[in-house]
Order: sequence, then C-alpha cells, then structure tokens
Amino acid sequence: MSAVFSRATMSGTIVLPGTRDRLALYSALYPQVAGLLDDERDVIAAMANVAAALHHAFGWHWTGFYRVMGAELVLGPFQGPVACARIGHGKGVCGTAWMEERTLVVPDVERFPGHIACSPMSRSEIVVPIRARDGRIVAVLDVDSAEPDDFSRIDADGLARLCSLLEPLFE
Ligand code: SME
Repeated sequence: MSAVFSRATMSGTIVLPGTRDRLALYSALYPQVAGLLDDERDVIAAMANVAAALHHAFGWHWTGFYRVMGAELVLGPFQGPVACARIGHGKGVCGTAWMEERTLVVPDVERFPGHIACSPMSRSEIVVPIRARDGRIVAVLDVDSAEPDDFSRIDADGLARLCSLLEPLFE
C-alpha cells in the first residue's frame, strides 16, 4: 500500500492506496475513519474530520455537511470554498434529498431543476441523508465535483457507509 495521502491528525494518520479505484479507496477509508471517530462524542468534531478525510482522499471541489435545524439545513463542517449557509426543505439538491429521504446523484448540476450554485465550478453532485438512531434525518453529506458525472452507486454506497459512523453521535 503506497500512501497518496498521509496526514497527521490528533488521532493518527490516514493512509490510502495509490489508486483512483473508488471501491478500494472507500474500503481503505472506512476502518481508518471508524478509528478516527472512536471515542469521539462531539458530532461537529466528528463531521469535521470526516469532511477532511473525504475531501483530501478524493480531491473533490467541496465536501461537507448541512445539519437539519428546524425548517432549514444549516451549514456544518466542510472543506472547500465558502458556501451558502442555509437551504430550505425541498430546495436545491440538498433540500430535495432531505425531503425525499434518499441519496441523490446528480451527474450534471445544470440539469437539476432548482440546483443551488454555491460555486460555478461544481459540475456534478451527490447528497447523502444521515439519520439519527430514531430514524429522523438530522443532516446531509453534500459533495460537489468539478468533473461532470463524477459519482456512481459506488460513491452512494461508500459514503452512506461512512456516514453511518456518525449516526450514533446525533441525539
Ligand atoms: N448545490 C447544493 C447547495 C450546496 S453547495 O453545493 C455546497 C444544492 O443544490 O443543494
């Protein structure tokens, strides 16, 4: 395993195989992110490290979380350019994924009605809802890529599995 990403953190180091194969990258990331979150009880700290690990592992344009706060999604920990702070229920890709309670893969953001363009560089997007233990959607993971059609079922599954690590931390 050759490291393409190795960064010291408070909890250790993330090392990834020197490949662009997403399945291999998610497989390598999962146990390391699980280890990173071990003993962490603060959901903001946990989301911050997940966003950083994903962003640097895959080199995406924007990687971060929005939390459900009342009738809106509110910006949480992220990596990338500044973004819109609040998104209404059913608005944009994030608000639609929240409303429909399902992962949305958008190959071309310009063809998604109501897409909220936080950055003109975003070409494709994936949004994964995150549930608390009681089943409520409490947040979404949003990833934007500067490449068109950059996300597949492999990303939907890999990101959902990583997000499941956060679920016990939400009240
Ligand atoms: N494009 C998103 C808005 C959030 S930014 O991409 C960070 C949307 O349509 O919901």
